[in-house]
Amino acid sequence: MAVRVRNDIWDLGDEADPWRDPVILAYAQAIAAMQALDDTDPDNGTSWVNQAAIHERQPGTPNDPNNLQDQCQHGGWYFLPWHRMYLWYFEDIIRSHMDDAAAGDWALPYWNYSDDAARRVLPPAFREPTLPNGDDNPLFVSQRRHFPNEINAGNPISSAAVLLTDAMLPSVFSRPNTSPVQGFGGGATGFLHNAPFAGPFENLPHGAVHVAVGGLLPDRTPDGFMSAFGTAALDPIFWLHHCNLDRLWEVWRRGSNQGHGPGANPTSSSWLTRSFRFVDRTAAIVRKRVEEVVDIEGQLGYTYVGLPAAPAVHRDAEARPEAVSDEQPPEMVGATEEPVTLKGATVATRLGVSAPTGPAKRDVAAGPEHVYLAIEDIEGEKNPGLLYGVFVNMPEGAPLDHESPYYAGTMSFFGIEASKSDEDEDDDDAPHMLRYAFDITPIVAKLKDEDRWDPEHLDVTITPIEAADEEIAAYDIAPVKIGRVSLYVE
Ligand code: C2O
Repeated sequence: MAVRVRNDIWDLGDEADPWRDPVILAYAQAIAAMQALDDTDPDNGTSWVNQAAIHERQPGTPNDPNNLQDQCQHGGWYFLPWHRMYLWYFEDIIRSHMDDAAAGDWALPYWNYSDDAARRVLPPAFREPTLPNGDDNPLFVSQRRHFPNEINAGNPISSAAVLLTDAMLPSVFSRPNTSPVQGFGGGATGFLHNAPFAGPFENLPHGAVHVAVGGLLPDRTPDGFMSAFGTAALDPIFWLHHCNLDRLWEVWRRGSNQGHGPGANPTSSSWLTRSFRFVDRTAAIVRKRVEEVVDIEGQLGYTYVGLPAAPAVHRDAEARPEAVSDEQPPEMVGATEEPVTLKGATVATRLGVSAPTGPAKRDVAAGPEHVYLAIEDIEGEKNPGLLYGVFVNMPEGAPLDHESPYYAGTMSFFGIEASKSDEDEDDDDAPHMLRYAFDITPIVAKLKDEDRWDPEHLDVTITPIEAADEEIAAYDIAPVKIGRVSLYVE
């Protein structure tokens, strides 16, 4: 099988010539063809709207028994393989609208917003209202963030949305679901629309880029497509965003990141044999198992430019990197007592901290190896369209931005509207509120150095990270309730 190459979109077109490489125009024309199909015809599972509804159907639309809907997997270890499959079938549907010559090596491009600041701008072909021939450009949608930065005007998304440090930090794919902090790929779940076991990667850059592009619109009707499960895949950039995430999964698995070696995918049969349904280019409903999508070149016929070579297959179990850890969960040593509500302005809260008494106790002399700040039991009806930054023990008046040494992390709240169970297949009955955990070990070390670490209290500041409170005050921001802020050590 010839291997197709998924390229960096910014290498295919730029401000001087948005349409330079024909791959981009071919994508636009195929989307126009998908949009021209009648969504209500039961044979048109490949239409644009029906494809997006596989992720989740649009808010307020009735379930359509003829079509596959509401399948997306978030907040757990199927997030990565499910979206890989979704892209792969979609890419082939796109190709089905091309002539053979164009379809031959056509592959979805990816949007790499992390490595070069200039590329945090939405690629220009997605901002042009018309195609070179004057027709409407299907890559352009107006349902994109207007505030604090206007995406369709070529303003870059915030650098706070694209940081890879925390995403690439875990050396294992999964940790037990009793742990507030997860591995790279998230915790073990069944079929779940949105579980609370996301790895840090699923929040940042994944969720944060969703919100940084979808964001806040002046009248909030409708919201930005990318900000919610039910509309995200209606923005053509969705597919390039997920292509980049799929690439980063391979980067994590193949190379060394954040001081650890190549990562490993789970080998347990509950992960490998799980199957999901999709729609193929003939509009037939088909199934794929996770074990059929772990080798992108050999099984799926694509690769990305610039990937590290695939790691050698480790035949003996000892040499194999660990995929699913069974470590004890970190121990909670402090928590807030009252919930906190975010509504577009800075809030501060304080938690009492006590010494560990459980498994982390033995490490107390040396100091615990890791300290995590967890933001738990998060609820809200819709995405606020803003990213919130979390800071610890902020000195009075110091700037609240992600370059601060007291910056713990960013919260995207992507999926907040769906953060409850879905009545489908083998639903878990775990709680389904969102949760984030940030590794604050280096901040705690710094605070100790500065003599600003209080062993009995921790002050936490949460603020919209991309704009000042006064600028936001003009908008009606959807509230987010945080049940608990807590501190864990291990
Ligand atoms: Cu299922 Cu980025 O979304």
